[in-house]
Amino acid sequence: MVGGGEGAYIGNIHRIAARQDGALQLVAGAFDVDAARGHKFAASQGLAADRSYGDYKQMLEAELKREDRVDVVAICTPNHTHFPIAKAFLEAGFDVICEKPLTTTLEDAVALDALVKQTGRFMGVTYTYSGYPMIHEAREMVSAGKLGKIRVVQVEYPLEWMATAIESEGNAQAAWRTDPKKSGRGGSIGDIGTHAYHLAGFVTGLKAQAITADLATFVEGRQLDDNAHVMIRYEGGARGLLWSSQVAIGCSNGVRLRVFGEKGSLQWFQENPNDLLFTGLLGRTELIKRGAGDLSEAAKSRTRTPPGHPEGYLEAFANLYSGFAEAINARREGRAPTAIGQNIPLAYDGLKGVAFVDAVVDSSQADGQPWLTPVAV
Ligand code: NAI
Repeated sequence: MVGGGEGAYIGNIHRIAARQDGALQLVAGAFDVDAARGHKFAASQGLAADRSYGDYKQMLEAELKREDRVDVVAICTPNHTHFPIAKAFLEAGFDVICEKPLTTTLEDAVALDALVKQTGRFMGVTYTYSGYPMIHEAREMVSAGKLGKIRVVQVEYPLEWMATAIESEGNAQAAWRTDPKKSGRGGSIGDIGTHAYHLAGFVTGLKAQAITADLATFVEGRQLDDNAHVMIRYEGGARGLLWSSQVAIGCSNGVRLRVFGEKGSLQWFQENPNDLLFTGLLGRTELIKRGAGDLSEAAKSRTRTPPGHPEGYLEAFANLYSGFAEAINARREGRAPTAIGQNIPLAYDGLKGVAFVDAVVDSSQADGQPWLTPVAV
């Protein structure tokens, strides 16, 4: 693991996810931008002292010399460091799991995606919400035609934690997120809009043809957007509306997806992630519960407990980890991955997210005109 040291947020979620189903074992790391703090943290995790590294370059060099070198490197650092770290490990022949947004520039994202293709290495990108079993069920229902042709996609990711200028009050996580040099061109749109964009495309299978956007910065002195509205025209005529916000007081982690087709609609809300609502033309709403017997293999393979026992965010993240491990093992063994190793977020999905951010910022800076195409390649 690179990053994810003491006090960091997502690194711990990665470690829990890796352990939960035994997908991967943490054996080495360069956990912190401060080497001494990183070593202290490695010791607290029970790591052998010779596998705790001062930085990722030392880790790369030393691991290459070991017979029992790490199989895959998880990058849990702020956005601006993803590119050099991922590039170095991919070029040296390691598989990589990388946080989103994949990079801070489109050029770097294109280069990473090309490097993955060129080296044949694996790169998973942790779009957390695509790990939920009911999101996979929704995807299966759309692709089986249960909703008919899709007309409208409403997706949102509102958060409240940055409603005031906490970046200037010592909040480390908010500080790098509001610094364009570390976060990239997008604020809320890069941090959480990329999750929403991926989720909408993942469930519907629709490709964005053009977008127009309106970014706002409500907190005084902040350098990046903290609220974004994006209209999306999808291939085939469907229309989408995406809202991401870091200033939506009252919304904790309110990821919500609603998909409307000619024959029915689906609704999913991450704060109640075990339930999926389907409404058909007669207006009757069916509650589809995680764990029910007749769900798709895609959903079943990502489920551990019977309906009624809640599973949630940590299990969704563990599903990504199990999926990544399965994809890597299947590639090594020259076989097709089982269900959990299929339909997982990969380098190209990361690239699409960065292309989306770029198009959104360009569109907003041009006052919403013209409509721009966010797909890079
Ligand atoms: P954080 O600020 O809490 O932690 C960053 C960690 O990386 C710290 O331990 C820091 O010391 C370390 N670090 C920084 N530069 C380093 C370097 N060059 N080498 C080694 N370690 C280094 O950040 P947070 O919130 O955990 O975010 C990290 C990444 O995860 C970001 O890209 C963010 O967008 C993403 N993220 C993804 C989420 C998801 O749902 N998939 C949720 C939250 C964050």
